[in-house]
Amino acid sequence: MSDELKRKLVAGLKSNQKYIPFWYKYDEVGSRLQTEIYQIDDDYYLTASETWILQHHVQDIIPNVPNDLTLVDLGSGDCALTRFVIDELIERQNTLTFYPLDISGEYLFKAATKLKEEYGDSLTIHPIASNYKEGIEELRQIKGTKLILWIGTIFNLSYDDQIDILRLISTVMTDQCRLAFSADITLSRHTVLKAYDDDDGCKQRLNVNGITRLNTEEGSVIDLDKFSYHIDFIRNTNPEFTSYVRSYIEAKEDVQYSIPGLSIDLAMKKGEHLYLHEGTGLSCKYTLEQLQTIVEKAGLRLAGTLIDKEKHAVFCQCVTK
Ligand SMILES: C[S@@+](CC[C@H](N)C(=O)[O-])C[C@H]1O[C@@H](n2cnc3c(N)ncnc32)[C@H](O)[C@@H]1O
Repeated sequence: MSDELKRKLVAGLKSNQKYIPFWYKYDEVGSRLQTEIYQIDDDYYLTASETWILQHHVQDIIPNVPNDLTLVDLGSGDCALTRFVIDELIERQNTLTFYPLDISGEYLFKAATKLKEEYGDSLTIHPIASNYKEGIEELRQIKGTKLILWIGTIFNLSYDDQIDILRLISTVMTDQCRLAFSADITLSRHTVLKAYDDDDGCKQRLNVNGITRLNTEEGSVIDLDKFSYHIDFIRNTNPEFTSYVRSYIEAKEDVQYSIPGLSIDLAMKKGEHLYLHEGTGLSCKYTLEQLQTIVEKAGLRLAGTLIDKEKHAVFCQCVTK
């Protein structure tokens, strides 16, 4: 982990309202758990909705430009959904240069190796193991027209970070480039919370994986039995904000743990919360108006939206203004 990321982790654990940044749960174990949830959990409706949109509208996501496109995938995970776009681009262009970017380095390189084995010479892959900010800076060197995907993950950032990262993406786009990001449309409280129900404990293990990492990598012995785990949905119709799901662990008694690798202690009073994401961002849910506002605040233009038949998910197609 870079010094900058370590500094952010420490800042979260030391802030007044304590939190572990969302990205910290994504080591190889976290990434595997995420893939498992996508593959086996029917209540987690978003992946099925995104898949439907890609199956039916992949041609609309890819812009018609005279030259070949280079594909970028931010927070690429196992690239399962990206394959729809890869297949279509290889069909059109014969070859494709692909930049998957993910903070979970080991998992990224494994996913890239698997893709290379499958697609052979038609796919040239340049994995970028990085967080968004530094990784997007690397994209500046890429010549030519980019199709940038950001699937199933903008909504995990805090509201301000969503705008900041979109703005940063806009700075590596020309007027020919396209950005397509997926988002979760606000549904009823019941449907949203059902998606976070956890029969086999997989989602909880993923969400608390940051604590597991502190214990294995930073030398702490934080006992999760001393905490209760909570998920909550907050509805917000303000066009300048979003609804969101938040998750936290709550101390059942006063606790104090040393975290030697970070040279800090984690001290919490009984009833105090430790959030498992920064700000509101375990998962934001949006109205189309809220999405339009975010895109505009970032200095981009929402050129179109693609929605699944059940109106659970949307792909926002963005261009520079
Ligand atoms: C919810 S998963 C989505 C994976 C994939 N795009 C999909 O839809 O199947 C979020 C992905 O974003 C990555 N990620 C989270 N925060 C990140 C950050 N700050 N910088 C880079 N990648 C990040 C995680 O490692 C994870 O692979």
